[in-house]
Amino acid sequence: MSKHYRLVVLKGEGIGPEVVEASLKVLQQVAKLEGFSVDVDYGLIGKAALDILGNYLPKETIQLCEGADGILFGAVSSGGLLELRKHFDFFINLRPVRIFKNLLDKSSLQSDRIQDLDILFIRELVSGIYFGPSRRDEDENGSYGYHTMRYHDWEIRRIARVSLQKAKERRGLLTVAHKENALPHLPWSRLVQEESVDFPGVVVEPMLVDNLAMQLVRNPKRFDVILAGNLFGDILTDIGGALVGSIGLLASASLNAEGFGLYEAIHGTAPDIAGRGIANPLGTIGAVVLMLQQWGENDAAQTLIQAQERILNQGYRTPDLAPKNQEISIGTEALADLLVHEISQLAVLSK
Ligand code: IPM
Ligand code: MG
Repeated sequence: MSKHYRLVVLKGEGIGPEVVEASLKVLQQVAKLEGFSVDVDYGLIGKAALDILGNYLPKETIQLCEGADGILFGAVSSGGLLELRKHFDFFINLRPVRIFKNLLDKSSLQSDRIQDLDILFIRELVSGIYFGPSRRDEDENGSYGYHTMRYHDWEIRRIARVSLQKAKERRGLLTVAHKENALPHLPWSRLVQEESVDFPGVVVEPMLVDNLAMQLVRNPKRFDVILAGNLFGDILTDIGGALVGSIGLLASASLNAEGFGLYEAIHGTAPDIAGRGIANPLGTIGAVVLMLQQWGENDAAQTLIQAQERILNQGYRTPDLAPKNQEISIGTEALADLLVHEISQLAVLSK
């Protein structure tokens, strides 16, 4: 019997709608050929939701997401996303950073430094300074503001266990970003090390986050899984964009303990290029791949990865990848159409 999935699509703003539309086309094609179906419900979030329903994250949107098989997300400039992450307790944020062989020359680093690069960032997503006590106020010295980086030990322990498990399934090295020389009340190193007794074979390597940022640029291939809190993870993963050549290529999955998830590119709304049809959809398509893997649709995920590789092999590049020489500059929709075609070709080949 063929499977049916219900997907909630939140396009958001800026380039969000463009990259999501392109990704949906590709998803529907791969679903058709692999024999499962995806029903799509559209919801509002961010500015559009505020204008129409009076709230960045309306209750209608939350209700729509409840009981769905996944959420495909575009981008928002302000409001809605953090609340959505918190509501569904999406504490696990997976951000794989892998190199496409054909894009080695797009990296900010020399090819030999990044060839075969394969890092999995795991970012804690529903706590820390994004959600700690905060306010703006005034006292006798003038106006001031604060945000508080606060973690309960159990919040660190639960993301530690997910990270240890991932490291166990990969190359067995878990680097833990921390800043204990200045923030000693957040003992990430100790807590992760304590959890690691249940994961023999995994090496836990605590690293000060400032040093980690430098090592990521100097020798990224030394890393396997990197665990970081919310803010550090946000900052470090943008370095991933420079490593692979464009932030437009990177995807993420945000999961809760039940495996329910929100899938999005890691880039933002990119207002400078919004509406011009030139945004790179590969970040969001990468998010679709993560969603398919989470659903257990591994053949479909593999087909999508192969289709992307073949299109890149043929020289097609969106403008963020600075096409040069023999490469062919291409827009969002055209790239999606090529992928749709390629997916059909792959299906014919595998018959
Ligand atoms: C990300 C983004 C968000 C974050 C913004 C849009 C709030 O930068 O997902 O990396 O900081 O989490
Ligand atoms: Mg970010």
